Amino acid sequence: MSSLPRHVAIIMDGNGRWAEARGLPRIKGHRAGAESVRAVTRHAARRGLEQLTLFAFSTENWKRPRREVGYLWRLLRRYLIEERGELMENGIRLIASGRIAEIPPFVQDALAETRQLTAANRKMTLCLALNYGGRTEIVDAARRLAADVARGALTLEQVDEAALAARLYQPEAPPLDLLVRTAGEHRVSNFLLWQLSYAELCTVDTPWPDFREEDLDAVLADFATRERRFGGLVRK
Ligand code: FPP
Repeated sequence: MSSLPRHVAIIMDGNGRWAEARGLPRIKGHRAGAESVRAVTRHAARRGLEQLTLFAFSTENWKRPRREVGYLWRLLRRYLIEERGELMENGIRLIASGRIAEIPPFVQDALAETRQLTAANRKMTLCLALNYGGRTEIVDAARRLAADVARGALTLEQVDEAALAARLYQPEAPPLDLLVRTAGEHRVSNFLLWQLSYAELCTVDTPWPDFREEDLDAVLADFATRERRFGGLVRK
């Protein structure tokens, strides 16, 4: 592919609607969505992406019914454990982004183990956004900046974009090139607000549980047609 994004993020929307359209409880949509996660992650690594970031649980998702929230965390724990073989076979390093200290301890434990196990994998990084909010990430970075200024490690004049970016949850991540949202919505929903500055946006009508390898190929092909200027006149 002529112009491959280095870093793609996905808002995996439409699990609930997918299930409701089939007369199933919403949680069945999340279960089917986990199958898409498996297929799309493997395919993204095969295509040569450096990083895939998936919005798995937002800081706002706690407002959902208790039963659904509980199911989502159990599903995430199961994924983090059952996927270890698949991640190792495909050279995928797993990391997470968000207020991880506030997620259920039984998920934190599974996450820590999978992270450690896959830490040396180099083919692709899979970043799960867990208890993640874009505004919260910027607030947390601002707090770290303020703390560093307060203890004299940084002067006020040294506070610039690079200083804030260095205090985000994943400062080493490649620049975000493409944001994909499924299920026909055209919102950013508090995802990666800082990183989205120059990313291309692509929305598709397919609900997440139906989004598979060929759908990823279609958005990558769409991305390859985009002309990116980053505010200037230079063509890529
Ligand atoms: C949005 O669909 C989806 C979520 C809030 C959860 C995303 C979780 C998964 C895809 C499942 C597992 C993830 C991993 C990483 C294994 P929605 O419920 O808001 O759908 P709706 O808009 O149709 O109601």
